[in-house]
Parts: sequence; structure tokens; C-alpha cells
Amino acid sequence: MYWIKRIPEIREVISEWTKDGATIGLVPTMGYFHEGHLALMEKARQENDYVVVSLFVNPIQFGPNEDFQRYPRDEERDRELAEKAGVDLVFNPTAEEMYGQGFQSYVEVTEISQGLCGASRPGHFRGVTTVITKLFNIVQPDRAYFGEKDAQQLRVIQRMVRDLNFPVEIKPVPTVREADGLAKSSRNTYLSPEERKAALVLSKSLFYAKEQVAAGEDSVQRLSASMKRMITGEPLVSLEYLEFRESATLRPVSTITGEVLIALAARVGKTRLIDNITVRPGRR
Ligand code: PAJ
Repeated sequence: MYWIKRIPEIREVISEWTKDGATIGLVPTMGYFHEGHLALMEKARQENDYVVVSLFVNPIQFGPNEDFQRYPRDEERDRELAEKAGVDLVFNPTAEEMYGQGFQSYVEVTEISQGLCGASRPGHFRGVTTVITKLFNIVQPDRAYFGEKDAQQLRVIQRMVRDLNFPVEIKPVPTVREADGLAKSSRNTYLSPEERKAALVLSKSLFYAKEQVAAGEDSVQRLSASMKRMITGEPLVSLEYLEFRESATLRPVSTITGEVLIALAARVGKTRLIDNITVRPGRR
């Protein structure tokens, strides 16, 4: 497995691979791998001749008061896990390599980046779409893999690819969860044992809503109220947002008619976690 830090070097390896028509699958990550990341790598492994994983904690997608400095990092462990997952190349540039002196060009998706995580993390999605653009230009993948865990991120990238004609197929991968339901996240490592227990209310409330919808409940107001009751019952958890959006467009909805994304963000202690689920109208 290659471990490459320089852009000219990765370009050389990739052009060697693709000169006879081989396909490339790209999995963009910020490292500290868990089974969510590994699920993306596995899918990429099945569908492409070569799998490239980028491991880059992207400074421009973090706000000034966010966890960029203390974001968990463990390159040795990541190297072993990537190797085991059959990854061919890890691209692990420095911030200097990606945003050298004079950097001043950004890619922005203007509407679907607003609200939800965009509201509490101004500039976040601009940082994501800019780094993904750079990675697409550097790696030139045929397919790129993104987790449904980051539902808004996935939709922002799908929009960008359509709007700007990137020749890349975006492949969504379902959220991988712990046995008890908590969505896997590199940030789960910040949680104390008490916070870890409390965090469970987030996935529980989403599963509860899905059951209610399957049983015929279609009122966003009622669903939202009961979810909020569940979540506020947990003193270590403070809800940042709970939103019901049309799944494809992220437009707000007031009744469950088509496919609806229920998305939430919350602080558990100091740790910010997100989760979501999609629901479809059930039968009364
Ligand atoms: P990161 O948080 O490392 O996530 C990398 C990819 O793994 C994302 O596509 C994310 O949605 C997916 N992922 C995370 N947890 C998951 C889970 N429990 N189940 C399934 N997939 C999961 O998201 C980022 O990095 C960055 O914003 C990035 C896209 C790399 C741009 O810097």
C-alpha cells in the first residue's frame, strides 16, 4: 500500500494506473478510522480496480472555536486498518501541501449548505466542498464514497457534482452504528462513560420516530414534540437542532408525505454529535 504526502507523486501513480483504463474509487476521510470508514472502503474495494483513501484533517472546514487541534489522530492504526481493508493508496498531505501560500479559491454550494449544520457551522460546507474539489482534481476518481451519517454533506456534494459537471459518480453508504444504535463517529472517543450512555437517546429518538411513522403518524409537530421530550429528559444532552426535511432537497416539511430526512445535532457534554434517519409514510 502506498502512503503518499505529495501531489505530484500521487498524480504519477494514478496516471500509471489509469493509462490502461483501470477505475479508481476515492474515499475521502479525516482519519481515526472506525467501521463507518471501513464500510466506505469495502464498497469502494468491490466496485473499483484501485482504492484511494485520503486522510486529511481539513483545517478550512473547522470554525475558530471547533476541535481542529484536538481532532483525534492515529496514523499507525489507520495505516494498518487501511491495509487490511485492501486500500491501494493513502493520500495524506500536509495543510501546506493543500493550501500553500497565497491560497484564495473556494467552491461554495449556496442553498443546500444553509440551515441544519450550516447554521451552527458557518463556512463549514465551503471548506468541505473546496477540499473535495481539490481531491477530485488530484485523484480524478471514477467513483467517490460518502456516508449517509453526514446527510447534509452528502447532498451538498451531490449538488456540487451535478452543478459543476464533475465526472465522478457519488456513492452513498448507509450509516454504520454501534450494537446499541449510536452512530459510529471519530468524535465518540471524546465521550465519558456517562456521556456515552446519555448519547444513546439520539439514535433512540430517531428509531422511535421511524416506528411512529411506520404506524401511521404523519404530523411533524407531534413527532418533533415527542422526540424533544425524550432528548431533553437526558440532562447531559443539549439539542442543537431537530429538523424534518424533504429527503432530496432538504426543504422543510410539516407532514410526512414523501421520503423525509429527520436530522439532529446535539451536544453531549462538550462533544457535538449528529445523526439522522430517513422515513417514508406508513399506513394507518
Ligand atoms: P470523516 O468524518 O472522517 O468521514 C469520512 C466519511 O466517512 C464521510 O463520508 C462520512 O459520512 C463517513 N462516515 C462517518 N461516520 C460514518 C458512519 N457511522 N457510517 C457510515 N459512514 C460514516 O466527513 C468527513 O470526514 C470530511 O468532512 C470529509 C468529507 C473527508 C472532507 O474533509
